[in-house]
Amino acid sequence: MNLYGRDFLKLLDFTTEEIEYLIDLAAELKDKKKNGVLHDELRGRNIALIFEKTSTRTRCSFEVAAHDLGMGTTYLNPTDSQIGKKESIADTARVLASMYDGIEYRGYGQEIVETIAKYSKVPVWNGLTNEFHPTQMLADALTIREHFGHLKGIHLVYMGDARYNTGNSLMVLCAKLGMHFTAVSNKKYFPGKELVEECRKIAETTGAVIDFSEDAIEGTKGADVIYTDIWVSMGEPDEVWEERIRDLKPYMVTMDIMNNAGPQCVFMHCLPSFHDLNTGIGRDIKERYGLDEMEVTDEVFESDRSIVFEEAENRMHTIKAVMLATLRK
Ligand code: CP
Ligand code: NVA
Repeated sequence: MNLYGRDFLKLLDFTTEEIEYLIDLAAELKDKKKNGVLHDELRGRNIALIFEKTSTRTRCSFEVAAHDLGMGTTYLNPTDSQIGKKESIADTARVLASMYDGIEYRGYGQEIVETIAKYSKVPVWNGLTNEFHPTQMLADALTIREHFGHLKGIHLVYMGDARYNTGNSLMVLCAKLGMHFTAVSNKKYFPGKELVEECRKIAETTGAVIDFSEDAIEGTKGADVIYTDIWVSMGEPDEVWEERIRDLKPYMVTMDIMNNAGPQCVFMHCLPSFHDLNTGIGRDIKERYGLDEMEVTDEVFESDRSIVFEEAENRMHTIKAVMLATLRK
């Protein structure tokens, strides 16, 4: 398998075998890290990390993974760079590509990261756009494989806003890896028709199943994984909260939903999560709408069925795999 020089912009650009290779490589790198085996194969290289939206996991994963591989990093925060304001995306891409060996971008439309890749002669990695979150997917796949021992045939139910980056990407991941994806939500929040059609076409070749349900009980029965994400994503206006809460409250992940799925079912979340009142936004929502928890109850989040912190750790190992695979000759 040779992914040298490739961009990592969305999973749709990769074959099933290439995605499986990245998951295997991540597992290998995780093993090395746990056993104290040095793996600084990219010594002397440098990468740029552009974040137009905030981050904890993705930024730290890129930085730690780069340092483990022997690389230097420059973090460009949401306000300090000229990108998009005084300098076009295309010019920024050409400048950075002349100094760095790889570029990570987190921000708004998918077309922005695609433009950076078009004008960059070095690999570009998508650290989240409105439409896709592909590095998250590799971590999720590794975590599910560690828990169940395999991926094919696993039934993953996504509850909540399934037409944004995480929901879209999980549907593509399941299609590519022969898994069963069900979006359980108000139908306003099902992924877009075009992407569904593309995933169903892929599913024909991998044995995946892609379906949808508005019924929280019916739709979650027998699920192996119940996955959710925050109801209002970064970059969306504050005004959407009221409607979002009204539409998605019936799809909150509760212990009753987990029990309805069955004892095999685990809980996943890309994080950050509003499961208690220990965040500023959580307290603000409590004041405005009276909710103590949102997309998942604190009981589920803190239970032994929750594998969210294993999932978060795997962000680092999988991002490392993406960088190593695309930068190593
Ligand atoms: N899951 C995820 O991307 O987390 P951050 O926003 O903290 O990077
Ligand atoms: N859908 C969320 C994912 C955060 C990792 C957002 O875009 O804010």
